[in-house]
Amino acid sequence: MSQLDRTSLIQYFNSNGVLISPEALDKLIKYSSSSMIEEMIRNSDGYIDEKYVDRYISRPKIRNDYEVYLPDVRFNASIEDFRRMFVSKYEKIIKIITSSSSMRGSVSIKTAKRSQGEVKVVGMVSEVSMTKNGHKRIVIEDLEDSITAIVMKDRGPINEIILEDEVIGIIGSVSQSSKDPVIFVNEIIRPDIPYRVMDEEKHDPVYVASISDIHVGSKTFRKNEFESMVKWLASSDSDASKVKYLILSGDVVDGIGVYPDQENDLEILNPLEQYAKLAEYLVDVPEDIKVFVMPGNHDTVRLSEPQPVFPPRIRDLFEPNVAFLPNPYNLKLEGKNVLVYHGMSLNDMIELIPGANYDSIGKAIEAILIRRHLSPKYGGNTPMIPSAVDYHVIEEVPDIFITGHIHSHYIGNYKGVRYVNSSTWQSQTEYQKMMNFNPKPSKLTIFDLYSRSIIVKDFDTTS
Ligand SMILES: [Fe+2]
Repeated sequence: MSQLDRTSLIQYFNSNGVLISPEALDKLIKYSSSSMIEEMIRNSDGYIDEKYVDRYISRPKIRNDYEVYLPDVRFNASIEDFRRMFVSKYEKIIKIITSSSSMRGSVSIKTAKRSQGEVKVVGMVSEVSMTKNGHKRIVIEDLEDSITAIVMKDRGPINEIILEDEVIGIIGSVSQSSKDPVIFVNEIIRPDIPYRVMDEEKHDPVYVASISDIHVGSKTFRKNEFESMVKWLASSDSDASKVKYLILSGDVVDGIGVYPDQENDLEILNPLEQYAKLAEYLVDVPEDIKVFVMPGNHDTVRLSEPQPVFPPRIRDLFEPNVAFLPNPYNLKLEGKNVLVYHGMSLNDMIELIPGANYDSIGKAIEAILIRRHLSPKYGGNTPMIPSAVDYHVIEEVPDIFITGHIHSHYIGNYKGVRYVNSSTWQSQTEYQKMMNFNPKPSKLTIFDLYSRSIIVKDFDTTS
């Protein structure tokens, strides 16, 4: 945008799903630049008023010095938007699958349908079912065609868990004997994580500390333990002094109106005051520790993923060493990939992946890594906003993968990717009591970015 004229500005805001008040518009035309406007859209929660603009004009340089992507803020999702998101997912994951040597020579489904004998194809799963004889029937689609694939009950891949909407490679043989060609599956190829060799080079330890689901404002927030953890970070303990980054992966406050009658469980009713309280606790984190804060489903941003960074009125409450991330986000720290995701899809994955449960979430986390997608099956308990880019594809192999949300604590290693379901700082809630779930609160998980060793500091005084 070279010229800040009124009509094109309104159009520009509208096309980004942001409303703007007439007074705010007047100020913008007078004082601001187009780069500032882009930033305002990126950080807004859908409505821009005069006060919001004032804040930018008086303090044009905002604190977040990390480059964060711009999640779409569109509100009227059309069929076309959904299609584009699925195409983006397909295109990103097919690239990963076909780069594996076993998929060399793969063809389109259209070509496969005209072939005889062995073929290799890649497609998104649109249907999975069992036949009455115990075989598995899968329908896969690429951008132009679809085909049915059969996994015979006595073949190895019959035990593979196939999810709708995941993108898979199939090696099998085409049979033209029925009306429509069918592939008999010999092998299913996942995008997966390549085995990686650890850095040989010795490096002084640099620690990344991870916590999640703080729920400040709730009566069950464990403030004393949270304070001892912050105090420990500021102490002269030799491990504490190696911590350079602290990540809060969502649900940092309890919010309000998240579930019916939540007021009864709240100590602080106003979400802004909840954030102010969190900011107050974090003041004691040494300023040379960079703190990253991501939203979750309790936070004051839209629920649908990708969730944007907090709006300025929340960010302004925090010290300059605190930076803000969208959810999900691939954070680059010292050249390493630290993938952070609040973890709403874990509820769905527990339902879909046998062996995964709230106490032992590893299988669900690994199923996500194998499929290179943070929410492989669309829908369920994971609201998503359709956009031209699917931000849930795990394009780069993470060194560390951090999730939260389920209030458990689980550490694992999948083909060299260290992962954690980070601990909460909230005691058992009434709902969890009803569900017979015991959270594992008040644990600080610490990764060494270089050796990838893991330390857990337990601040739970009740265990
Ligand atoms: Fe959550």
